[in-house]
Amino acid sequence: MAPATSPRYTPFLLVLLLSAIMVTSETLIKETHMTFYLQDWVTGKNATALPVAGRNKTSKPTEFGTVVVIDDAVTAGPKRSSPQVGRAQGTYVNSMLDGTDVHLIFSIIFTNAKYNGSTLEIQGADRFSLNQREVSVVSGTGAFRFVRGYVVLSTVFFRNLNAVVQCNVTIRHY
Ligand SMILES: *[C@@H]1O[C@H](CO)[C@@H](O)[C@H](O)[C@H]1NC(C)=O
Ligand SMILES: *[C@@H]1O[C@H](CO)[C@@H](O)[C@H](O)[C@H]1NC(C)=O
Ligand SMILES: *[C@@H]1O[C@H](CO)[C@@H](O)[C@H](O)[C@H]1NC(C)=O
Repeated sequence: MAPATSPRYTPFLLVLLLSAIMVTSETLIKETHMTFYLQDWVTGKNATALPVAGRNKTSKPTEFGTVVVIDDAVTAGPKRSSPQVGRAQGTYVNSMLDGTDVHLIFSIIFTNAKYNGSTLEIQGADRFSLNQREVSVVSGTGAFRFVRGYVVLSTVFFRNLNAVVQCNVTIRHY
């Protein structure tokens, strides 16, 4: 008769065990905030953002259909000469018929001492004429494994298609 009572305890023990696991994993999640600047130079000397395809041979990033490949410097401050903390490598594609939005898909590859070699994967709609817009951090590597979060973008400089974009990052990771 005695063994018949034991199954009643099983769900209780299971719940206890599961909540212990959940508490453990939650205490390990960190929230990190970072601010840096994307140096998106399309024209002039040392351009790092190159339109590679579009509806016309001379298509600009501000025209629908233009594909831009980037290897932009990511800097600690807004100046182009500010210390570099990483590179933004990948693409953006103008994907709004009236030309006012680019779809970003790139990695931020950190080169600073703290996060050297770690990456954040950025994706989202960048309606660049707005003062602020938000894109996703969809994944990451190294220090940012299992990362999720978002980046608030604001353009601090824009001339001749060249832009410096402030990136305010909020991420949760282990
Ligand atoms: C371009 O790069 C060269 C070599 O690194 C540098 O001397 C020059 O100042 C740069 N020009 C601009 C406009 O950044
Ligand atoms: C291609 O460029 C020409 C000249 O700038 C322009 O008139 C035309 O509308 C462009 N075509 C497309 C599809 O953007
Ligand atoms: C980052 O890692 C690379 C490759 O391991 C190394 O050459 C470089 O010196 C490192 N940079 C910093 C700032 O630690």
